[in-house]
Amino acid sequence: MGITGSIAAYKSAVLTRLLVKAGAEVKVVMTAAAKDFVTPLSLSTLSKNPVLTDLVEGDSWANHVMLGRWADIMLIAPLSCNTLAKMAGGSCDNLLMAVYLSATCPVVVAPAMDEDMWHHATTKNNLKKISSWGNYCIPVEKGELASGLIGDGRMAEPETIVLWLKEFFLAKLELKGKKVLITAGPTYESIDPVRFIGNHSSGKMGVAIAEEMSKRGAMVTLVLGPSAIAVGSGIKIVKVRSAEEMYKACSTIFAKTDIAVMSAAVADYTPATIVKEKIKKETGDLTITLTKTKDILKSLGAKKKKGQLLIGFALETNNEKANALKKLDSKNADLIILNSLRDEGAGFGHDTNKITIFDKQGGEHAFDIKSKKEVAVDIVNSIIQLLHA
Ligand code: CTP
Repeated sequence: MGITGSIAAYKSAVLTRLLVKAGAEVKVVMTAAAKDFVTPLSLSTLSKNPVLTDLVEGDSWANHVMLGRWADIMLIAPLSCNTLAKMAGGSCDNLLMAVYLSATCPVVVAPAMDEDMWHHATTKNNLKKISSWGNYCIPVEKGELASGLIGDGRMAEPETIVLWLKEFFLAKLELKGKKVLITAGPTYESIDPVRFIGNHSSGKMGVAIAEEMSKRGAMVTLVLGPSAIAVGSGIKIVKVRSAEEMYKACSTIFAKTDIAVMSAAVADYTPATIVKEKIKKETGDLTITLTKTKDILKSLGAKKKKGQLLIGFALETNNEKANALKKLDSKNADLIILNSLRDEGAGFGHDTNKITIFDKQGGEHAFDIKSKKEVAVDIVNSIIQLLHA
């Protein structure tokens, strides 16, 4: 948040508080003139971050490039007539202008000035200029001005600015309105009341995908096998235990789903019968008959309608590409994400993963080893690309 020299700067304290309350991380840059209207101490207390004013502080240099790259959005509120002119002219005589000129994020301004200044042709021209470069402007409001005049030029109220920002980010969400189904974790197939057949899946990859989808605006339902992993807020969780329970949950949810990602490690076989009482130890060996479970991905592939996207995983130890392509085809998936257990740091339990994505058009995209959160970003980006294809 950039604050410039205008009487409306006193509102920036409330604005900072509201932004922090709404979950934003706020770093404040002030011009020297802004300090006449509001103190850096108030803003550093409210933003919980040091307030920056100068390009050079003591013998250290404020890294304006990193600030402009760090932020998801740069808000200049209030924007004085003077700073507006500097923005339009590209001058760089303070830290705020240096951050603005090096910002890679969207920039939004909330001007504040007296009515006559606001209506001046130069102001209009400058605003038109900076808007034509992709900067956004939150309109001024009409009301009592510092001069005592009543007219246009008041900075939008902090509540209005926060609302504008919320709407801006919502509109940008690529998966807004999309319903997403994700399976994650292992399944447990009961043998008797105390024993089960399971696997080493932690659910981390599926949960990371669910969280990334939710971050992009999707309505996410996560069908989660037994897993102790924490799941971010805003995601609907359906807890299941066995492959059959996971199948039933997915079959119901899929009809109203736009995108389904099957990342669970579903058991392929389950005991033919669940023994009612605990199996007692006998002298000889024990044989358990296993029957095949339903293939959830394949069953959804068979039901898939036009407009629905289905994404599966392939966990392989050998013949990776051939097996992944076979799954893409036989399960009628739109993408198959291959994990090879031959790659170090890939697969179960790790915080990292290494994937290759195969699509139906013969595309093959291999990614480097990354954290599961970063892999989730790559996967969601690939799905979004497919949505627009
Ligand atoms: N899958 C599923 N239901 C099953 C088995 C697998 O939905 N009963 C899904 C997994 O979630 C994954 C994909 O199918 O998205 C491939 O899983 P994988 O274990 O790699 O392959 P399988 O189909 O089980 O075949 P195989 O074990 O022979 O490799």
